[in-house]
Amino acid sequence: MAAYEYETHEYDVVVVGAGGAGLRATLGMAEQGLRTACVTKVFPTRSHTVAAQGGIAASLSNMGPDNWQWHMFDTVKGSDWLGDTDAMEYLAREAPKAVYELEHYGVPFSRTEEGKIYQRPFGGHTTEFGDGPPVQRTCAAADRTGHAILHTLYGQSLKNNAEFYVEYFAIDLIMSDDGQCQGVVCWKLDDGTMHVFNAKMVVLATGGYGRAYFSATSAHTCTGDGGGMIARAGLPMQDMEFVQFHPTGIYGSGCLITEGARGEGGYLTNSEGERFMERYAPNYKDLAPRDYVSRSMTMEIREGRGVGAEGDHIHLNLSHLPPEALHERLPGISESARIFAGVDVTKEPIPVIPTVHYNMGGIPTNYWGEVVNPTEQDQNAVVPGLMAVGEAGCASVHGANRLGSNSLIDLVVFGRAAAIRAGKVVDADAPNPTLNQASVDAAFDRFDRLRNANGGVPTAELRLEMQKCMQADAAVFRTSKTLAEGVQKMDTIAAKLDDLKVTDRSLVWNSDLMETLELTNLMPNALATIVGAEARHESRGAHAHEDFATRDDENWRVHTISRVNGKDVTLAHRPVVVDPLTTEAEGGIALKKIAPKARTF
Ligand code: FUM
Repeated sequence: MAAYEYETHEYDVVVVGAGGAGLRATLGMAEQGLRTACVTKVFPTRSHTVAAQGGIAASLSNMGPDNWQWHMFDTVKGSDWLGDTDAMEYLAREAPKAVYELEHYGVPFSRTEEGKIYQRPFGGHTTEFGDGPPVQRTCAAADRTGHAILHTLYGQSLKNNAEFYVEYFAIDLIMSDDGQCQGVVCWKLDDGTMHVFNAKMVVLATGGYGRAYFSATSAHTCTGDGGGMIARAGLPMQDMEFVQFHPTGIYGSGCLITEGARGEGGYLTNSEGERFMERYAPNYKDLAPRDYVSRSMTMEIREGRGVGAEGDHIHLNLSHLPPEALHERLPGISESARIFAGVDVTKEPIPVIPTVHYNMGGIPTNYWGEVVNPTEQDQNAVVPGLMAVGEAGCASVHGANRLGSNSLIDLVVFGRAAAIRAGKVVDADAPNPTLNQASVDAAFDRFDRLRNANGGVPTAELRLEMQKCMQADAAVFRTSKTLAEGVQKMDTIAAKLDDLKVTDRSLVWNSDLMETLELTNLMPNALATIVGAEARHESRGAHAHEDFATRDDENWRVHTISRVNGKDVTLAHRPVVVDPLTTEAEGGIALKKIAPKARTF
């Protein structure tokens, strides 16, 4: 057994991760007087939410008629009928409240002439239950909305006495023998000390796993750490096959160009200068949802109408927009285009390509953020002491495809919901759990094995192999052949985790070891993604399967549940929640409105 000395910390709640969801949960917990710690591997305001650009969806009606029922309908349709209806209602209904709270906390939203929060159009957000024109529902702070939210929530959390453990890497969850989460084991990156956090509630807010792919808009820190810890605890992930490609990553660097660029009037063209989205989505054109636009772009490229010397990307045009509008509404992407594509957006188009952006799947939860571990007896069985929020979780509000700007609202609505629930289930006066020492020891043993790994494969080499495989074989379009090959390749790649080579054995700022721990988290996420994709014999949302080109509600309107043990993935299914929280008579949405139908735009 590895012998590491450690310090023990006791809290009511420990939140792992300090992005939008983690900070909103931390703030909500601390506001209620719960002793709350937030443990984060990067400084809070460097969390990936800082890169969120275009905005946060809420039916405020500041720019024209809107209501939560229309927002809910768009989310249901956007999800291609795989989202859970109770969670989608909760999201749309609570969204305005959550945004006004942000405003009152101090988020510097852009303003209309009358001083209201400015809202812009985003893909898939419509009026009249999808029959009316696009709606301006996305509340924006220029094109730096995530940045504004993150800084505000961090300041508010400090004001409410939340305690931050910055640059602490979470190694593993501490689980009791009867399945209760009791805390988390951490490594402090800057001095090499070890820390055990004992908590009545652990909230995983660790973000997505975009870095399982070669080209992603996600930060290098987006390594699915929550999913990795969940898999090692014997708990499941859900709907991992649904990976969102954002239509406009900068060609070459993958850097995000916000959908807000199209919301403000930008449009895509092919090598013939044609606005091709008019053919694919006659009503909503460039403002169709992301899965639609990414597939249309890929089809244009495949059919020989891509731009550039190799005909392998598409143009995003903004130069027709008034320079002052670009300056006021899109200053960040104007700068990104200059730095990463060498383009002056007032004069030239930006070269763009669909780029991995978001994971619809994650750790299954109910709409209070409580982690669910489905059993035969109870498909909704809650794991005591454990929550997951934000991109790490799967409530599931995005189903098979997320609408742009529904991510930031997911972070704050469900971060807040988790805090409300914790306020009810965490007893601040009760003693902390007696820790399961075997679980603590197992975490240190794993850490020590990796620290001393002396095999033949360097971490960076294996990571690249995984990323290239995922990029090639779990792409925008998938076939039985590419998926089967991908599953086989990933099986071989994952086996090499047993032959890793770590060269730095120190404990202080050991990035070699940290990246190795991250790779052991990325791998189960990647395995669950490709195995789940191979098994799903239909096309739905972001899962476009060329050999099963249509949606099959009879057989496949179900969540995929995946359990990853080493390199083995076991799949099961779980029903989709089809009933809303409120009936039509109570002001809710009519069931016939949200019944599955063809998804056209
Ligand atoms: O395009 C964007 O600004 C990204 C927003 C989102 O993913 O919600």
